[in-house]
Amino acid sequence: MKALVYRDKYDVRIEDKPVPEVQHPEDIILKVTTTALCGSDLHLYHGTIPTMEAGQTLGHEFMGIVESIGSEVHEVKPGDRVVIPFNISCGKCWFCRHQKWSQCDRSNPNAEVGAAYGYSRMMGGYDGGQAEYVRVPYGNTNPLLLPDSVSDEQAIFLSDILPTGFFGVEITDMKPGDDVAVFGAGPVGYFAVMSAFLMGAAKVFVVDREPDRLALCENLGAEPINFDDIDPVEYIKDATHGKGAICVDAVGYEAVGHHPAAPKMENPAYEKLNPIQVIEWVSQAARKYSTVGIPGVYIGTFDKFPFGQLFSRELNIRMGQCPVKNYNEQLLRLIEVGRIDPTKLISHSMDLDDAPRAYEMFDKKEEGFIKVIFKM
Ligand SMILES: NC(=O)c1ccc[n+]([C@@H]2O[C@H](COP(=O)([O-])OP(=O)(O)OC[C@H]3O[C@@H](n4cnc5c(N)ncnc54)[C@H](O)[C@@H]3O)[C@@H](O)[C@H]2O)c1
Ligand SMILES: [Zn+2]
Ligand SMILES: [Zn+2]
Repeated sequence: MKALVYRDKYDVRIEDKPVPEVQHPEDIILKVTTTALCGSDLHLYHGTIPTMEAGQTLGHEFMGIVESIGSEVHEVKPGDRVVIPFNISCGKCWFCRHQKWSQCDRSNPNAEVGAAYGYSRMMGGYDGGQAEYVRVPYGNTNPLLLPDSVSDEQAIFLSDILPTGFFGVEITDMKPGDDVAVFGAGPVGYFAVMSAFLMGAAKVFVVDREPDRLALCENLGAEPINFDDIDPVEYIKDATHGKGAICVDAVGYEAVGHHPAAPKMENPAYEKLNPIQVIEWVSQAARKYSTVGIPGVYIGTFDKFPFGQLFSRELNIRMGQCPVKNYNEQLLRLIEVGRIDPTKLISHSMDLDDAPRAYEMFDKKEEGFIKVIFKM
């Protein structure tokens, strides 16, 4: 079968691999019909995620048809059409029983955090779904069955970025009538904007430097702030009568920096990056005594974290991997009845053979290249 394989940083290839087989009675083998490329894949592409090994199939956003099942799978059957959360959860450990799906204690033998597909040895070493077939463990727990009336294009983002955007806002405990500022207008930021409106936000600001991404969020009703032209902190303060907004960081550690004290990065290609740029901004732009939601990924340790500012303004921070299963069913229902339309985010639909080129285009943020799906 065809699979998109990680070889080295900036080197991903389509290779021929054996079709995966059931290894455990609860496994299912999924024939992938649609898969997508995520901002999280770029961290791997840049070589910044430790323990990513050559030969691993990439991809954690995928859906398809159940091809075969292990002897203990009773919740789905061959022929069922399902979308799979990027988190791999056993369904039985303490964390799964308490709906903390992203912290499953059994799925990842290599680290404390729960496993994810196509995301390094540290994240469990499972092959991903940018391939014709993928092995899905814990087949009674992870798949979400789809009604025929919902297309692949409508459903694919339930695997990750739609629940993740929703989670980024939900963990702030925002209330109807609150103003919300979303940093990052990438796919996760886009769905955070959509979710903030769903939850009753008054104004939603969106901060980025990519005009096409800002424009897409503007279509949802957000006020765009291009940080190359405008100081986001001043703008958000002014527009909220000095109060500040409920902030969501949908950027993470590969943030482009405008801060004079940016920590030096080892790789000169990243000189413009400042991993704590958004943390700096939200520590000033967030409404005092509010909770900042951080779905953007952070790894390692970073210097100059603004502890004083966070303390004196009494800000809380909630962050982490989105427990997709807590949100995907309700979001599916909103799609099914036409309350939300995730398909407007799709800028490109390509063949899996074109995936290496798609990584390059997505990485360079080529104009109009916002979210690509691959159809089999
Ligand atoms: N927590 C989770 O479970 C989870 C799930 C999916 C993705 N993520 C993470 O969410 C983040 C966003 O994902 P994505 O797919 O939207 O990625 P993306 O790379 O497409 O988008 C990131 C956006 O941030 C913008 N940006 C860079 N620096 C900025 C700054 N200083 N201020 C404002 N915007 C800035 C970029 O221009 C880009 O548009 C990534 O870190 C990704 O790994 C987390
Ligand atoms: Zn993703
Ligand atoms: Zn578990």
